[in-house]
Amino acid sequence: MRNVSMRGITMKHSKSVSARTMTALGGILLASAGFYLALGSMNEAHAADNEMYKAKFNTAGEMIRPAGWREWVFVGSPLTPNSLNGGAAPFPEFHSVYIDPESWAHWKKTGKFREGTMFAKELTLVGETKATSGNGFFNGDLQGFEIAHKDSSRYSKETDGWAYYSFGHHAEPYADSVAAMPTAACAACHTAAAADDMVFTQYYPILRVAKGAGHKKGAGVGGKK
Ligand code: HEC
Repeated sequence: MRNVSMRGITMKHSKSVSARTMTALGGILLASAGFYLALGSMNEAHAADNEMYKAKFNTAGEMIRPAGWREWVFVGSPLTPNSLNGGAAPFPEFHSVYIDPESWAHWKKTGKFREGTMFAKELTLVGETKATSGNGFFNGDLQGFEIAHKDSSRYSKETDGWAYYSFGHHAEPYADSVAAMPTAACAACHTAAAADDMVFTQYYPILRVAKGAGHKKGAGVGGKK
């Protein structure tokens, strides 16, 4: 009797153990299937992003205007108004500057501008100079769009592998594709005065605080140090 009941208990026990094991195994299988599915879609999303933040060119070698730059990472908004430039600044607008998100991630991690980095600079007219907050310079309408692109395999060593594109100094619509600007028109001034690899990081505190800080959680992005 005892043996039988013992066996019964043992059997019951092993049954319930194996049932539990099966459930656990099933759970692990389901979880890992879910994990791999999630990983798959993450990889797909990542691949899609890589493609999205890659400069594209037409058969004439002109850069095709990238899409969606207003959703890139904003780094600064220098302003060179006419009123501070004898009434006639070459670029009297606000310069809203953005870096593509892939290159931002790389900058945070390594403190370097990766091959393929794109900066977008969209110009905005000075609009009102009085508001309820006080006298000042307030954004008017959009007035032009430019790109700086780093690709050492494509561009000259003379410009440290960067090229500059202007899609128009006027209201939208901007040009769909344009050729790179001559070195003297753009790159020369960047070579002469930009602080970090042809980029004017001296005017972008957001880039400076994030440089190479990505390994510390929240550092450089407005979170905890
Ligand atoms: C006389 C100097 C000068 C010339 C010429 C010049 N730039 Fe710049 N550029 C600057 C300065 C200074 C900044 C940073 C602050 C600002 O936006 O004014 C800048 C910033 C930029 C940025 C943002 C990324 C960065 O490198 O800081 C882009 C994009 C850019 N310029 C494109 C162009 C293009 C396109 C041309 C030619 C049509 C051009 N630049 C010509 C001085 C110049």
